[in-house]
Amino acid sequence: MFTRAIVRRPCRALINGLTGNPQLGKPDFEKALVQHEQYVDALKSCGLAVTELPAEEGFPDSCFVEDPAVLGEGWAVITNPGAPSRKGEAGLILPAIERFYSSSQIFRVTDPGTLEGGDVMRIDHTYYVGLSARTNAEGVAQFARFLEPLGCRVVAVPLEKVLHLKTGVNYLAEGHLLVSGEFEDSPLFAAFERHPVPQGEEYAANSLWVNGAVIVPSGFPKTTALIRSLGFPVKETDTSEFRKIDGGLSCLSLRF
Ligand code: GLY
Repeated sequence: MFTRAIVRRPCRALINGLTGNPQLGKPDFEKALVQHEQYVDALKSCGLAVTELPAEEGFPDSCFVEDPAVLGEGWAVITNPGAPSRKGEAGLILPAIERFYSSSQIFRVTDPGTLEGGDVMRIDHTYYVGLSARTNAEGVAQFARFLEPLGCRVVAVPLEKVLHLKTGVNYLAEGHLLVSGEFEDSPLFAAFERHPVPQGEEYAANSLWVNGAVIVPSGFPKTTALIRSLGFPVKETDTSEFRKIDGGLSCLSLRF
């Protein structure tokens, strides 16, 4: 169960966020602000106390706070984002993490290692980490050196197509794994009950379990029905403007 979340308000420079999908157009800043407020409300409705950090105009992607940190019980990792324009987000998030973790509990991924939190998926005491364009083998090795002494297992997952691991696979609870594309048949996840996201709704593979409920991006009715059929209450929230710059539900917060 989570008790807290950290988010950062979108900045106007959001319209220049990194994207592999320019055909979706530029985000509408005002609409993104409204969607962000609704997202925060959804987190609060799941029982989380939400710390809202101010917008940072120097970092177009800085509302995606999941990437510069990974938070656990009694430890925090400040990552080293692999995207050059996002590197500075690590130092930017640190003061917020220091409000909740002591310096001895905070680890930092350093060059030549790179790692982004969107590549990290926790299932119980195992952390699956995507080897992506943003996270390299040295970043995963450093992450494992921090966590293995704390009793966690770290498993590297080579990615083929998706930006981040959690773009395509997300753990709900009770053994249920939401999968799309390259993760539907991956032997790494064979032990779980895999639920492929219906064709055309791949974006909704990034749905977010929070304290028993699942937050699902709005506009994906088949995925919503699938998750409901598994017994999870669903809360829908619109992330259309964040999707235009490759942002999903999980990227928009740190839950801990
Ligand atoms: N725009 C989100 C990212 O590329 O990191």
